[in-house]
Amino acid sequence: MKLSHALAALIIGGCAALGCIQAVTLEVKEGNSTCIKAELSASFSITYNTSSSTRTAQVSLPNSATVDTGSSSCGTDGSSPWLVAVFGSGHALGLSFSSNGSLYSVTNLTLQYNLSDTSVFPEANSSIVVTVESASVGIWATINTTYRCVSATTFTVGGATVTFSDVRLEAYMPGNDLSPTESVCMADKASTTAPSTTAATTTTAAPAPTPPGTPEQGTYIVNNSNGTVCLLAQMGLQFNVSYVSKSQNKTVQDFVNLTPNLTSSSGLCEASRATLVLTQEQTTALNFTFTLNSTTNKYHLSGIALLANWSDMTAPFSASNMNLNYLRSTLGRSYMCNAEQTLVVEPNFSLNTFRLHVQPFGVTTNQFATAEECQMDQDQMLIPIIVGAALAGLVLIVLIAYLIGRKRSHAGYQTI
Ligand SMILES: *[C@@H]1O[C@H](CO)[C@@H](O)[C@H](O)[C@H]1NC(C)=O
Ligand SMILES: *[C@@H]1O[C@H](CO)[C@@H](O)[C@H](O)[C@H]1NC(C)=O
Ligand SMILES: *[C@@H]1O[C@H](CO)[C@@H](O)[C@H](O)[C@H]1NC(C)=O
Ligand SMILES: *[C@@H]1O[C@H](CO)[C@@H](O)[C@H](O)[C@H]1NC(C)=O
Ligand SMILES: *[C@@H]1O[C@H](CO)[C@@H](O)[C@H](O)[C@H]1NC(C)=O
Ligand SMILES: *[C@@H]1O[C@H](CO)[C@@H](O)[C@H](O)[C@H]1NC(C)=O
Ligand SMILES: *[C@@H]1O[C@H](CO)[C@@H](O)[C@H](O)[C@H]1NC(C)=O
Ligand SMILES: *[C@@H]1O[C@H](CO)[C@@H](O)[C@H](O)[C@H]1NC(C)=O
Ligand SMILES: *[C@@H]1O[C@H](CO)[C@@H](O)[C@H](O)[C@H]1NC(C)=O
Ligand SMILES: *[C@@H]1O[C@H](CO)[C@@H](O)[C@H](O)[C@H]1NC(C)=O
Ligand SMILES: *[C@@H]1O[C@H](CO)[C@@H](O)[C@H](O)[C@H]1NC(C)=O
Ligand SMILES: *[C@@H]1O[C@H](CO)[C@@H](O)[C@H](O)[C@H]1NC(C)=O
Repeated sequence: MKLSHALAALIIGGCAALGCIQAVTLEVKEGNSTCIKAELSASFSITYNTSSSTRTAQVSLPNSATVDTGSSSCGTDGSSPWLVAVFGSGHALGLSFSSNGSLYSVTNLTLQYNLSDTSVFPEANSSIVVTVESASVGIWATINTTYRCVSATTFTVGGATVTFSDVRLEAYMPGNDLSPTESVCMADKASTTAPSTTAATTTTAAPAPTPPGTPEQGTYIVNNSNGTVCLLAQMGLQFNVSYVSKSQNKTVQDFVNLTPNLTSSSGLCEASRATLVLTQEQTTALNFTFTLNSTTNKYHLSGIALLANWSDMTAPFSASNMNLNYLRSTLGRSYMCNAEQTLVVEPNFSLNTFRLHVQPFGVTTNQFATAEECQMDQDQMLIPIIVGAALAGLVLIVLIAYLIGRKRSHAGYQTI
């Protein structure tokens, strides 16, 4: 039941990845020959300051992104090959490459964002253009092959996280098209071989992790800039995370509950997007993104990102997926699911929810609107309804039988 649900969610997530988010194609040319080509989807989660608090903006690389020919180069003049994509008002994503003759890799990932773009960074208390960079991103492939990574992979770059998905890219290209031979990233290999690896880890890892019991339900709200509540959430949350353990020196699967009274909430409500950020004691930051489709008036949970730095982790853990399609409901309604749900985010991270009730859009008078309930709750409701209906039917039959019997005996009396 739970597994099939997770699989269904994965398939829906996949559909969303194919249909609902934008894959962008970028090419760097010199004369008539292409040296770098990239087909990818990218989204950015950027934390910035307002005068009173910090906020997180979610941006995705739009279809309209173009290669900046001025700063991009094939590296023929001895410099590194560079791909720089520009989008919106002064935002840019840059990738530089290097090669040792048999492998090529991304050596430098830079993100530039313009805080004076108020459509993306409302109420930012600064108007500067920020440039952040990350040196080790682990994107590498054999020369004359295409790097392929369908899985979402997230990198921390300064105060931002960059999530790539559906990536096919090549630098130092021998022809003008992506090479047919592919170098597949670790995450894709892990997800295709998942059944055998999980079987192996569960059989060899002696003590199976014991879930810490049902998490406590917390109540979280997000306020508008004018102080009115614009997002309401009540839920118990449990993380299911695989990471390299310091104490055991191997990858372990850990279940950790979020503790509501140690957790603070923040976020942002926009016309078609709402974010809820839950922070527990500087060690855990969980970010939910809800998206409203204003043509259909339907909303869903479209993104989850987790940054965790727990004591037994060898390195901070970061995972995100911005192409999700969970908790679907209608504008003007809330979404409710009392049953446990598993939201798969990445192969190494899922989120289990308990007694969940959310409304990210259309909150009036600080209260939840009528709820749309998840299928699992409806199924569980069905059992008492069926039993009740059967009992009612039985009572009715007995009653009819009794009445008929009574009428007959009456009739008997009258004829005498
Ligand atoms: C590019 O191709 C066009 C026609 O296909 C040709 O006329 C032109 O000379 C080429 N330019 C270079 C720099 O190779
Ligand atoms: C926000 O302000 C704090 C305090 O001045 C500063 O340390 C931090 O770097 C700022 N964050 C960003 C993203 O600008
Ligand atoms: C922006 O706000 C933060 C606190 O939220 C403050 O520390 C920082 O100095 C402010 N920056 C500017 C440029 O006003
Ligand atoms: C930053 O955004 C502002 C407002 O959208 C725009 O006027 C400015 O030109 C942008 N800066 C750059 C470097 O593009
Ligand atoms: C290129 O780098 C890889 C990994 O660092 C190494 O295995 C390989 O031998 C190197 N090739 C050359 C030609 O140096
Ligand atoms: C990354 O690229 C930027 C822009 O060219 C450069 O200033 C920076 O030094 C590079 N960083 C590394 C680690 O290569
Ligand atoms: C890559 O392909 C080009 C053109 O087909 C060829 O000249 C070069 O030797 C190849 N490089 C490697 C490392 O196979
Ligand atoms: C939201 O506003 C209420 C008062 O309306 C306040 O009690 C609460 O602390 C605020 N919450 C956040 C997260 O800002
Ligand atoms: C302020 O609150 C009202 C409801 O009281 C709401 O309609 C309006 O959109 C809010 N303004 C902003 C900027 O959020
Ligand atoms: C952890 O395991 C690796 C191999 O799995 C080994 O090389 C390393 O020395 C171990 N580190 C510690 C601290 O035990
Ligand atoms: C949080 O709640 C638990 C149980 O409800 C309680 O034992 C603990 O003292 C609380 N911690 C804080 C910081 O309030
Ligand atoms: C809204 O939903 C419709 C129908 O499913 C779809 O065609 C459209 O692309 C969606 N719009 C957005 C902004 O996602």
